[in-house]
Amino acid sequence: MINSKLPKIWYGGDYNPEQWDKGAWDEDVRMFKLAGIDVATLNVFSWALNQPDEDTYDFTGLDDHINRLYENGIYTCLATSTAAHPAWMAKKYPDVLRVDFHGRKRSFGGRHNSCPNSPTYRKFSEKMADKLGERYKDHPAVLIWHVSNEYGGYCYCENCAKNFRRWLKQKYVTLEKLNDTWNTRFWGHTFYEWDEIVPPNALSEEGEGNVSAFQGISLDYRIFQSDSLLDCYKLEHDALKKHTPNLPITTNLMGFYPELDYFKWGKEMDVVSWDSYPGIDTPVSQTAMTHDLMRGLKSGQPFMLMEQTPSQQNWQPYNSLKRPGVMRLWSYQAVAHGADTVMFFQLRRSVGACEKYHGAVIEHVGHEHTRVFNETGQVGKELQHLSDSLLDARVDAKVAIVYDWENRWAIELSSGPSVSLDYVNEVHKYYAALYEKNIPVDMVSVEEDLSKYDIVIAPVLYMVKQGYAEKLEEYVKNGGTFITTYFSGIVNEHDKVTLGGYPGELRNLLGIWVEEIDALDPSRKNQIVMKDKWGSLQGQYDCNLLFDIIHSEGAEVIAEYGSEFYKGTPVVTSNKFGEGNAVYVGSSAEQGFVNELVSTICEDKSIQPLMTTPSGVEATARSKDDKTFVFVMNHNDQEEIVDINEVSTNALTNEKVSGSVKIEAHGVMILEK
Ligand code: GLA
Ligand code: ZN
Repeated sequence: MINSKLPKIWYGGDYNPEQWDKGAWDEDVRMFKLAGIDVATLNVFSWALNQPDEDTYDFTGLDDHINRLYENGIYTCLATSTAAHPAWMAKKYPDVLRVDFHGRKRSFGGRHNSCPNSPTYRKFSEKMADKLGERYKDHPAVLIWHVSNEYGGYCYCENCAKNFRRWLKQKYVTLEKLNDTWNTRFWGHTFYEWDEIVPPNALSEEGEGNVSAFQGISLDYRIFQSDSLLDCYKLEHDALKKHTPNLPITTNLMGFYPELDYFKWGKEMDVVSWDSYPGIDTPVSQTAMTHDLMRGLKSGQPFMLMEQTPSQQNWQPYNSLKRPGVMRLWSYQAVAHGADTVMFFQLRRSVGACEKYHGAVIEHVGHEHTRVFNETGQVGKELQHLSDSLLDARVDAKVAIVYDWENRWAIELSSGPSVSLDYVNEVHKYYAALYEKNIPVDMVSVEEDLSKYDIVIAPVLYMVKQGYAEKLEEYVKNGGTFITTYFSGIVNEHDKVTLGGYPGELRNLLGIWVEEIDALDPSRKNQIVMKDKWGSLQGQYDCNLLFDIIHSEGAEVIAEYGSEFYKGTPVVTSNKFGEGNAVYVGSSAEQGFVNELVSTICEDKSIQPLMTTPSGVEATARSKDDKTFVFVMNHNDQEEIVDINEVSTNALTNEKVSGSVKIEAHGVMILEK
């Protein structure tokens, strides 16, 4: 349980009472209670307010808010406010200001704008955490610490450059090693002194959109910047832990956010939390996958849905409203995938600046007679009714999909073979195939123990880190099924090519050699022609993007290309290795192929869908003790019928359900077994 003081699914969100005068506060509390809200995230952007100058700290306003809410049964998720530095700090200590990708020194403004290697930022943010820890350590209202907010962005200033060199020295020890690893004899880049190394940005090695002349330095800079921000988090974390060793600490993440290696971050957090902002057209499977990734950061431990909008965002080109029922549906989707909280940005809409048109529980009209408030209130009541029944329940998956940020960076930085290769999309394709079948998935890092899975899928495993090929071999030898795709096994963790033939270190496991890789405009298709029927796979399917030209070195050829000069050569292979199998898909296959492939292999491994449902109706389960909760969620705009084999209780209504049951558009059932 995140904090046993509030033993239910927490319900609430970001609340900025400091933007309002007194008059609104009591009304807020009245309406929060009406909506069943029991936690408010306070102090997210109040640094300037609480520290008007270098030596003055004033928390009386914050005290008031925490106390008023607590007296009304509402707990606090207490933020440290360090995601936007005060203007006085930027004026007095310009080192807090970042230098951007184009080498421009920033002025005061915006947020998430502090240089992570600024001595000023580090000193004052740590001190703020210390002050807050000291002041609120015994306050009964505080449930959890929320450090900063959505860490992100990179800096290219002199302090970053200096620390980068220090970081590189630690990593490589000698310049010889660094020169060799980055292959600096290319384009005459040999470094003789550490201070010849400068951050890779538009002034040096990089162009807009992950274009780099030197992947070695660009990859290291991403790891370094992610680590630098993580160091800032750790400074605050440690300052807080000193005062409150037993209070959990989190910071809100952003799903597949490209710039930070969240698997590293997850290790430093007591509970993972994240902000979910799907648009009206985001595939629901994409949202499901992101929840699963966030759950995977701490190997399956429940996470917090820290933010979602009750209705609309302000930062999309077209800020569509969540249709009636959708906020509720997506709240339960988060819970179904492992969330133990449902929280919003924001509880009350602000009057000015850029988030005044962002949805909120309390709209500008100021009263509770709104669609959004009604829907919020319904969820509030239901979460009270569910009480602690779901807390800590786990998702039990037999299939893992490997996702790795460094692999992503290396793929995105790669000059060739195709600009259209999108790692996250390719991962999603395999996820979506399992999602469609209601087969639970764990999204895992390369560090995860694989032995608990029957199937491990690592789409585009371009980078094979030290020891990972052995780990995969061990897994397959012991009976596991491993699936990977084209453009895998190409480089080591420094983005240096593994010589001796692709797919490098995976060649033995896969029983193939890839001689060449063809790349075509994605509109140009080739065909995956099945040699024989394989499970539910038969006939032919389209593929595009990249085309590995493969020689079997012992693997069984499952399908061949249908056209081009490599027509008739292998495109899909399966290699028996020890007790298991290693499958290779040598091109970017159409979704239909991936669906059937996954289905064939799941059948082979006797992995059954949780339920068979009409398309658009998702079934996901969490279990705890001897109980299983199957969430049935209708993402369609029309009513659907689902077949429930076993008599179950809908935990939301306590009704018994069985047989053919209607589920309304955007409806949810939680079947308890
Ligand atoms: C992010 C931030 C919030 C707010 C919302 C708006 O998630 O954390 O402060 O800006 O976006 O969608
Ligand atoms: Zn910097």
